[in-house]
Amino acid sequence: MHPVLADIVQCPKCQSAVITPDDPFDGQALFCTNPDCTYARTGFPMVANAPVLIDFEQSVVSRGAVADLGHVAERRRADNTLARWLYNFLTRSPGPTAANARTFLAEVKKLSNDPVVLVVGGGSIGFGAEALYNDPDVTVIGSDIYRNGNTDLVADGHRIPLADKSVHGVWIQAVLEHVLEPHRVAREIHRVLAERGLVYAETPFMQQVHEGAHDFSRFTASGHRWLFRGFDQIDAGVTRGPGTVMIWSIRHLVRAIFRSNKAGTAAAMAFFWLRYLDYLADGRYVADSASGVFFLGRRSRRAVGHGDIIAYYENLGQPVEADRASHHGGALSPQHSR
Ligand SMILES: C[S@@+](CC[C@H](N)C(=O)[O-])C[C@H]1O[C@@H](n2cnc3c(N)ncnc32)[C@H](O)[C@@H]1O
Ligand SMILES: [Zn+2]
Repeated sequence: MHPVLADIVQCPKCQSAVITPDDPFDGQALFCTNPDCTYARTGFPMVANAPVLIDFEQSVVSRGAVADLGHVAERRRADNTLARWLYNFLTRSPGPTAANARTFLAEVKKLSNDPVVLVVGGGSIGFGAEALYNDPDVTVIGSDIYRNGNTDLVADGHRIPLADKSVHGVWIQAVLEHVLEPHRVAREIHRVLAERGLVYAETPFMQQVHEGAHDFSRFTASGHRWLFRGFDQIDAGVTRGPGTVMIWSIRHLVRAIFRSNKAGTAAAMAFFWLRYLDYLADGRYVADSASGVFFLGRRSRRAVGHGDIIAYYENLGQPVEADRASHHGGALSPQHSR
């Protein structure tokens, strides 16, 4: 088990401490210490030295599926073909992630000399998130519902098996659309973050279904702000604009007509130039039609109110005044609205 994890893991069901018995039984490696908890009897497995701390009774991941988790990881890696790389190269603008990662890291390092960042849904390294993994001063704990080289912890974001206030930052990129209860996941992120801890989230708005059965929600800029209402906003904006949305729409139109992923991908590549139109859009106009949204915030004891969230939309694309930002959660900063 990752040494940092050993000190902060807990039972995902009852939040009691977990222990590793000297003599594990039934092939399970970790047990809840609360005698009234189911997991004191049934325990949790380890997969390739990573704890699988999932409350199987309340997760889309079953105990039986854990044995197959390695296969899932293999299948996902096989998806990275040359065609996929070319498609991404042509149709995907760099977006704001790399710059946001730098701000996130700088803020996280102000909180501790030895900061710990939890990545939720980190089975693959997010587009533009490389800096997070390359920073020698930050300990990154990767978690996902399956184990692979990027994940040290197998966990479900609805019940993060970590102690309260145990990490300095949480990175959650392209994941909240795949969870059944995004508001619950956001509350869990708030719980595991230290005082003034940082969250960075990227979530789709105008995107078609991806990952099939595991795709449940989309968020407007305001909806995303409300999701993170327990946080002060440092920055927020869109990942890509309506030009990118057009490319995706063409891809899915052709895919639906010909019932062919390949035909859709080829059509999208022919229209790669539409993504440059994103640079012409700005402010609330781009927020209304964005491909995805991002939020960078700091854990707060105060929450955004019902009136504040209406004012938030009115201010999208407007410059943020310091006091407005703290009371109304700020606005989409113009430099990031493309
Ligand atoms: C679209 S992928 C994004 C992966 C990575 N963050 C990236 O940007 O490349 C969504 C990820 O969320 C994970 N996921 C789905 N449901 C989850 C849950 N309940 N808890 C944690 N992760 C989950 C998936 O296994 C998958 O790795
Ligand atoms: Zn328990």
